[in-house]
Amino acid sequence: MEEKQVKRRRIVLVPVPAQGHVTPMMQLGKALHLKGFSITVVQTQYNRVSSSKDFSDFHFRTIPGSLTESDFKNLGALPFLLKLNQVCEASFKQCLSQLLHEQGDDDIACVVYDEYMYFSQPAAMEFQLPSAVFSTTSATAFVCRSVLSKVNVESFLIDMKDPETQDKVFPGLDPLRYKDLPTSAFGPLESIIKLYSNAVNIQTASAVIINSASCLESSSLARLQRELQVPVYPIGPLHITASAPSSLLEEDRSCVEWLNKQKARSVIYISLGSLALMQTKEMLEMAWGLSNSNQPFLWVIRPGSVPGSEWTESLPVEFSKLVLERGYIVKWAPQMEVLRHPAVGGFWSHCGWNSTLESIGEGVPMICRPFTGDQRVNARYLESVWRIGVLLEGELDKGTVESSVKRLTVDEEGADMRKRAIDLKEKLEASVRSGGSSSSSLEDFANSLKMKNS
Ligand code: UDX
Repeated sequence: MEEKQVKRRRIVLVPVPAQGHVTPMMQLGKALHLKGFSITVVQTQYNRVSSSKDFSDFHFRTIPGSLTESDFKNLGALPFLLKLNQVCEASFKQCLSQLLHEQGDDDIACVVYDEYMYFSQPAAMEFQLPSAVFSTTSATAFVCRSVLSKVNVESFLIDMKDPETQDKVFPGLDPLRYKDLPTSAFGPLESIIKLYSNAVNIQTASAVIINSASCLESSSLARLQRELQVPVYPIGPLHITASAPSSLLEEDRSCVEWLNKQKARSVIYISLGSLALMQTKEMLEMAWGLSNSNQPFLWVIRPGSVPGSEWTESLPVEFSKLVLERGYIVKWAPQMEVLRHPAVGGFWSHCGWNSTLESIGEGVPMICRPFTGDQRVNARYLESVWRIGVLLEGELDKGTVESSVKRLTVDEEGADMRKRAIDLKEKLEASVRSGGSSSSSLEDFANSLKMKNS
């Protein structure tokens, strides 16, 4: 008997063209594909994921006339995002229209867009397609953005300039202080608040999906559920549910060979994600602190991440000798494999949300050195809510670097943090297992699409 082919309904994904956003969006695509949907990824011209063998089941489209790498370099991250939303609205409508024309009116079950790609919302509405917002950061950072979108910019600017106020807890966001709020180093406060206001203005989207889990952020998730008019689905961490290799840079796997030769839990792994920049002075303090700590280290230094240097040329010759004895430097690492490695004892991180989830997911305690945006929120939670991180604030000196590396990898305090991290890892694993809170949330979201369109 001929088997009847069941046509998969399509989900259109619209990621922000940046590593920390593309990665969770592709993981979400994998997870939804496993639930029986067909996936089309609509990308900008900049930072496109290749339709490699890992995504052979996905379809890819490019938004014509969207901005390019040179626009990103000329404008900077924040103005780039604001402009991207202006230029993409009409061309994304064209894209959707073409998809509907080719595939049929009943083909698209939902447009799932990164909260910062809010141009997707009016386009979906024009074709009466359901849409859902995907937040790739924490629920707490989402709450903060919502709060910031309503502040009076002038008086908030005055508060933020006052050192005493900066250290105070922000009303209603305990334990976050004013200085932990996700304001940005990528542009002026007015622009970041404009971006947040647009992002949290969920007018016609029918759901919010968050790459987090209730065991990490139950009160922020409950607050969002109360304040938003639509269902909130915490479905993370997606890297455990549906790992999807989507590195935009080439991973140097030779560091795994090097890790294989190190003692268990001895190595401090250092990486500041895909966007953070580090001043030469801070880099040198880190180098000497690492040197004095006597611990082995694996350090990711992205080319161009130290302004004024191509790569590592500002490191002193003596330090380069030490690297040969006790360290390893790469341009980009296979981070999840590194964090999973038994030799890794701690993670020095900028605390991007993906790095935070990946570290907790492997039970690895952290040294938190946030740079901008949501990283400060995550760092504060790592230190004072989950208590698995050492938060470094203010100017960095080699003594602090040395002592914090030892606190994490040698001292009793580090062992306690690791126990708590492993406890959280187990809770996260339980939440994505069948019947767990995140797994059920994902199931509910998928079912809601099936019901709406049946
Ligand atoms: C950005 C923001 O800076 C971050 O605060 C926000 O939460 C998401 O968007 P990014 O700075 O790149 O992201 O940090 P992060 O969220 O940690 O994402 C980095 C990703 O790159 C991780 O998935 C990590 O595994 C990967 N990575 C990083 C590598 O694969 N190799 C590396 O060497 C470094």
